[in-house]
Amino acid sequence: MNDVSAPGQHAVNFETWMSGQNYTRFKTLEQFIIERQDSIPHSTGAFSRLIRDLSVAGKIVNRDMRRAGLVDIAGTTGEVNVQGEVQQKMDMLAHNEFVRALKRGGECCLIGSEEHAEAIPISTQSGDQDGQYIVLLDPLDGSSNIEVNVSVGTIFSIYRLPDDYGEPDLGAALQAGLNQIAAGYIVYGSSTMFVYTTGDGVNGFTLEPSIGEFLLSHPEIRTPKTARSYSINEGNYNSFEPGLREYIKWMQALEPHDGRPYSTRYIGSFVSDFHRNLLKGGIYIYPATEKNPDGKLRLMYEANPLAFIVEQAGGRASDGHQRILERTPEALHQRTPLYIGSEEMVLRAERFLAGKEVAG
Ligand code: AHG
Ligand code: MN
Ligand code: MN
Repeated sequence: MNDVSAPGQHAVNFETWMSGQNYTRFKTLEQFIIERQDSIPHSTGAFSRLIRDLSVAGKIVNRDMRRAGLVDIAGTTGEVNVQGEVQQKMDMLAHNEFVRALKRGGECCLIGSEEHAEAIPISTQSGDQDGQYIVLLDPLDGSSNIEVNVSVGTIFSIYRLPDDYGEPDLGAALQAGLNQIAAGYIVYGSSTMFVYTTGDGVNGFTLEPSIGEFLLSHPEIRTPKTARSYSINEGNYNSFEPGLREYIKWMQALEPHDGRPYSTRYIGSFVSDFHRNLLKGGIYIYPATEKNPDGKLRLMYEANPLAFIVEQAGGRASDGHQRILERTPEALHQRTPLYIGSEEMVLRAERFLAGKEVAG
């Protein structure tokens, strides 16, 4: 594995592209999944089909997103979701597409979505329930950014239904992040990417829109151990806990010998901020604030999946004190403070929060 994956290092060179031998060296997501499946004895292919279903829904959402501004899909539905947040039309559209794809695919027995108050059990048309996977989703993350043409994404987390569980219900989904068997995201950015892990490294695929395939463009992503940028909504500075304010002061200090002050990079779309930091290094923080005393991001379908990915890429994720993946969830929509990204940066933030380091 490379120590740091440079974005685009795997890209086909421009002359080759122009000569028409475009993508022969790229593997499609489908080929990649099948190859991995073949290496697992007694694999039934169910998991591969589940990933394919998610990628198809991602392509449909991507298609619709590319028309925002032309077709009347941007803007709010006039409804407020279970989190008390204004629902965007694209939130509902993305939720519906993912639920539809998972129902049609038949491998998923329970869905938990940001856009639905309760967990959604899935039964097949015959009434039999044979899907073995639970999928938790943020169908559209950063959705308030759509109207202004800024990158947004979908985040997903996958668990197995515990053996002999009976009728799948919320209890089956409330497992620690360590039990995830896969997690990923689709970022609808300057290009559309599907990034996922099954606990065996992180791989990124870029959508080639003319052939409708995700192609392996970012194999075995590794995130830098440290970097010089941080992502936080600093407008909330006055309601941060003292240790965090100290850490920010430390990052802003004029200490050119070690690269300080660091730069702030905050898109306000978690998945996009995370994706940049994964490739370039950095730390993303959404801490407890006065308005959101438990933080703003959701443990089950925002923090856990990206914590799994960042750890698989060599990074770290915590709530400031405890490893995210070890948290025992109590509710589908529960929130958590989040410190996620380059390992050394998250460790330093934890030391500041614990009062073991000060800005000086
Ligand atoms: P969502 O669109 O799924 O509700 O998530 C919005 C989240 C996250 O994407 C982003 O990082 C954060 O809200 C931004 O919050 P602030 O505006 O408070 O910084
Ligand atoms: Mn979100
Ligand atoms: Mn969302």
